Amino acid sequence: MTEGAYAIDALLLEERRYPPPADFAGQSNAQPSIYERDFDEFWEAEARERITWFDPFTKLYEWELPYARWYLGGKLNVCFNCVDRHVEAGIGDKIAYHWEGEPEGERRTITFADLQREVVRFANALKELGVGKGTPVGIYMGMIPELPVSMLACARLGAPHTVVFGGFSADSLSDRLNDMECEVLITQDAGWRKGTEVPLKRNSDEALDRAPGVRTSVVWRRAGSDVGMKEGRDVWAHEVVEGQSDDPDSCPCEPMDSEDLLYLLYTSGTTAKPKGIVHTTGGYLVGVSTTHHYIFDVKPDSVYWCAADIGWVTGHSYIVYGPLANATTGVLYEGVPDYPDRDRWWAIVERYKVDILYTAPTAIRAHMKWGPEHAERHDLSSLRLLGSVGEPINPEAWVWYREHIGGGRCPIVDTWWQTETGMILITPLPGITTTKPGSATLPFPGVDAAVVNDRGEEVPPGGGGYLVLRRPWPAMLRGIYKDHDRFVETYWSRFPGMYLAGDGARVDEDGDFWLMGRVDDVMNVSGHRISTIEVESALVDHPQVAEAAVCGRKDETTGQAIVAFVSLKDGEEGSPEMMTELREHVATKIGKIARPANIVFTPELPKTRSGKIMRRLLKDVSENRALGDTTTLADPTVVEEIKDRAVTEASQEA
Ligand code: PRX
Repeated sequence: MTEGAYAIDALLLEERRYPPPADFAGQSNAQPSIYERDFDEFWEAEARERITWFDPFTKLYEWELPYARWYLGGKLNVCFNCVDRHVEAGIGDKIAYHWEGEPEGERRTITFADLQREVVRFANALKELGVGKGTPVGIYMGMIPELPVSMLACARLGAPHTVVFGGFSADSLSDRLNDMECEVLITQDAGWRKGTEVPLKRNSDEALDRAPGVRTSVVWRRAGSDVGMKEGRDVWAHEVVEGQSDDPDSCPCEPMDSEDLLYLLYTSGTTAKPKGIVHTTGGYLVGVSTTHHYIFDVKPDSVYWCAADIGWVTGHSYIVYGPLANATTGVLYEGVPDYPDRDRWWAIVERYKVDILYTAPTAIRAHMKWGPEHAERHDLSSLRLLGSVGEPINPEAWVWYREHIGGGRCPIVDTWWQTETGMILITPLPGITTTKPGSATLPFPGVDAAVVNDRGEEVPPGGGGYLVLRRPWPAMLRGIYKDHDRFVETYWSRFPGMYLAGDGARVDEDGDFWLMGRVDDVMNVSGHRISTIEVESALVDHPQVAEAAVCGRKDETTGQAIVAFVSLKDGEEGSPEMMTELREHVATKIGKIARPANIVFTPELPKTRSGKIMRRLLKDVSENRALGDTTTLADPTVVEEIKDRAVTEASQEA
């Protein structure tokens, strides 16, 4: 942040209150009575109103702890709900996506009828390649229209997918493909990011060397780059699609059970191995479409832009499945916010008259750092509502977003949720909720969230503790793929009968929730979830590293930044070259998002007498805090030495 420019007392900002603006109250999708609706009645009515079922469900839900099942007996197809039924209803000409490539001037408009044609042709091609109900498919792509087309084609056929974020490395991709036992991979030649090509096909090739179960790789042409095609394995999407019928009857939507697998999405936990979060069909679609409708106050003529990447859950639920089920016009943008200039986003808002913008605090803070003049060059008067997701939003960023982007008139919805929850669970409802900068306010209707202490007792207003959920919700995860024990252990063992979110929270006197960040070994860097242990394993995988400990320290733009404490083998000293090498090593093992911002080389790591690394101390060191109790350390002088080194490193970094 520019020095001094935002030296506002955060506490004073927290005290501010923003009642819903008059033009929202009365006209918003959600009316105050929504909070009085009975839980069962609410989710039954929403499911009937919002979703087209091939066979109606016979029971709302069943909860055999820890597994819940929803809309039992119901049959439906997600692609039918997101695409076909809108064309059948006569709104095929409505725009589904305005797409912009990162290179300027590259634009496409895709109507629901276009989307249907493209999905049907691609689904027919996939069918010819042997993809059918139950075939696991990996997808490794950037933000191009063919990504939702690929996901929807899978959903049409009943083939579960796992989308792997295009910023992940070949290693991360092969791990996921192997865990899900994918038979087919859909990718693209390359994508555009910050003016350079992201070599998706090249990374996929590397990944496929280690994922022998994948028999076919289907490659969309995007950048026109030269890529090698492996005979017998790789096919061009445009070639296999050629000649395929685009008649929806040529490839009917597979009737799926409510509880059939829709997708897996891998997310970092507290071990080195990412977890495959299981999302199924009926409850997920009801959950994401219902929340999308009420929370974003989407109107039939809205132009809604969720500026996340589809590779994360935000993109799955609120770029693809929720908005399309609601027949919403959306914006898809391929690249970064500051290419070619820092006003790129605002040019997009102006061009398409975006009325709803949903992004992450890290992006807001980046814009804040660049200054409001970039937004001021554009007409942002179409904006009506702003959303935030992914990490706690600091009150300064909240107020800046409201004033400089929302012109002081747009309500902000700070939405708390997770890959596991599938849908937003804690959020203001525009038109009803009085918002407070930094608070996600209240649980969505029907959601039973609470903050409990160490013993699992609900804390009174004003208190802090662990965020838990005490009742199932339709889009909740149905487990960790092939790992029942880890599912129980991670979420359900600490407080019996309650889902442990892994976040700290407090509830204020009004009952509003304030999220305080993770309480486990998960870091949040630019809204991305990264496990400290995953980064540590990547570091110790380097032949010269003896030991590594990783923690997240506060960062003004990215929320947290990764700091690694590393001791090298044979007492070797660290060097700037070694630091670069290790950072690159982590990027190769996991992806650039996991690259440590700083590496502190130290002959030894602080350990307890029983040999456990004291991560808490390292966090204190990296955030320059007074050190707490060090008496349990085996060798208290170690930490002094680390402190000195960390200070030197930090000044070099600055
Ligand atoms: O710590 C919380 C934080 O992001 C975590 C979930 O990360 P992920 O599964 O990657 O999903 C991100 C997008 C839904 C949570 O455990 N988080 C997410 N939203 C918020 C948040 N923290 C505070 N406020 C939020 N609005």
